[in-house]
Amino acid sequence: MITREVAYGLLTEYVSSDSLIKHCLAVEASMRKYAKVYGEDVELYGITGLLHDIDFEQYPDEHPTHARSILQGSDIPESVLDAIEKHGKEHDNTRESLLAKTLFAVDSLSSFVIAYVHVRPDKSFEGVSLKSIKKKFKDKAFARAVNRDLVALGAVELDIELYEHMQTVIDGIVERQAELSHMGMSLI
Ligand SMILES: [Fe+2]
Repeated sequence: MITREVAYGLLTEYVSSDSLIKHCLAVEASMRKYAKVYGEDVELYGITGLLHDIDFEQYPDEHPTHARSILQGSDIPESVLDAIEKHGKEHDNTRESLLAKTLFAVDSLSSFVIAYVHVRPDKSFEGVSLKSIKKKFKDKAFARAVNRDLVALGAVELDIELYEHMQTVIDGIVERQAELSHMGMSLI
């Protein structure tokens, strides 16, 4: 399977937007966390998150239907291509694998958590609490682009309680930020 380093190289080959790359890093963070929770392959889950929006910049209206052709031939497992292909369909009952369900569930919620960190006075990841995320989640004026219904649907598909889901994503992002800062990178 493709290494994380090669996957990151691929991502930056097709995506130039700094904010989109950071979104992919945040989704990677949440995917890695869920892999640990489920006892699944952390690298496989992380790479799925990292590459999930690879066709977005080139094909914003057709995303994610072009991801498969971009990624084919790069030694990426079918399960990853399948999960990426199915994450864009909002109401879809074809997400069968845990990988696909997890990707869909963490995508917009990861954006939401990052949006919250952005409005913190010091943009600090330290002490991001479930309580504050829940409060912002109920505030419809905040991060309007994040469809709350889709976040809720993701938790239902994953068969996890919504607030437990939020806590897992918060933990994944906070932990990954600490790791990335050692690599000279950041999620924001
Ligand atoms: Fe995404």
